[in-house]
Amino acid sequence: MAGTVEQDLAMQLRGRDFIGLVDYAPEEIQYLIDLAIELKQKQKAGELYQPLKGKTLGMIFEKSSTRTRVSFEVGMYQLGGHALFLSKNDLQLGRGETIYDTAQTMSRYLDGIMIRTYAHRTVIDLARAATIPVINGLTDLSHPCQALADYQTVQEKKGRLQGLKVAYIGDGNNMVHSLMMGAAKLGIHFAVATPEGYEPDSEVLQLSKESAAQTGGSLYVGTDAKEAIADADVVYTDVWASMGFEAEQKEREIAFKNYQVNDELVKYAKKDYLFMHCLPAHRGEEVSESVIDGRNSVIFDQAENRLHAQKAVMAAIM
Ligand code: CP
Ligand code: NVA
Repeated sequence: MAGTVEQDLAMQLRGRDFIGLVDYAPEEIQYLIDLAIELKQKQKAGELYQPLKGKTLGMIFEKSSTRTRVSFEVGMYQLGGHALFLSKNDLQLGRGETIYDTAQTMSRYLDGIMIRTYAHRTVIDLARAATIPVINGLTDLSHPCQALADYQTVQEKKGRLQGLKVAYIGDGNNMVHSLMMGAAKLGIHFAVATPEGYEPDSEVLQLSKESAAQTGGSLYVGTDAKEAIADADVVYTDVWASMGFEAEQKEREIAFKNYQVNDELVKYAKKDYLFMHCLPAHRGEEVSESVIDGRNSVIFDQAENRLHAQKAVMAAIM
């Protein structure tokens, strides 16, 4: 007997890694967003949902985190499982044990691994060597958990995703890569404005363009913030110097000075635009206080949805 579309999608997600939205089909991403919304409603209604009873997630952190750490740990608890916080310095990984040996060993104890690291390659190598699902909790290249939670937030606020316009102003970093890929998969029009020399990765751009061509989305990349933000439904920005780039803070402040999202710039967006930021934010740098703390800002809804979106991912793949 043929299962429903949802059952087929659930089957097809089981055991998968969650490394980048590039690996997920549009209907799989939409399934995860819808599941996240459903799990959020269950949680708010006080309904227990514990499909991961007896399971354990290992969380490897090479970089700092507030949201990722807390939301994964709480999410795993709510799903009936347990999460272990593993800082790289406390693991033998920090003393030179290989990724391969670490992945193989951890696969004998755990049911899933979440990793936040620098080189994207590390996550790929870990996933290849592990026999359990691996989740990307941010690399220098991407941050798919955040983008998933963000599109969940947009869907909740706007009632749809297809055909909306999302503008990203600032650094061509991990955040824009995942947002751009997600937009392309979901049929969203995506516009990016960065200073020259800080453009998004060309390969991610190319792959996003290919997806957008199939979903009815579109992609604009340029240096003109006003052009990018024109008529946008969502205005997104992120820090000018990401983790690992702190030494460039001063030169970046100069390069990005005309890219602050402020009252003057958001005049070009739609009146009911959403302001979004993955956090942590630097008020007065990439965004003015008036915008980030203004009535269009949904930053804490995004932060909350990290919990629900990641629960959806964990429930689906683990
Ligand atoms: N947005 C995000 O990933 O936040 P943390 O760095 O606090 O985890
Ligand atoms: N681009 C930021 C995102 C933090 C969640 C960074 O990598 O530091």
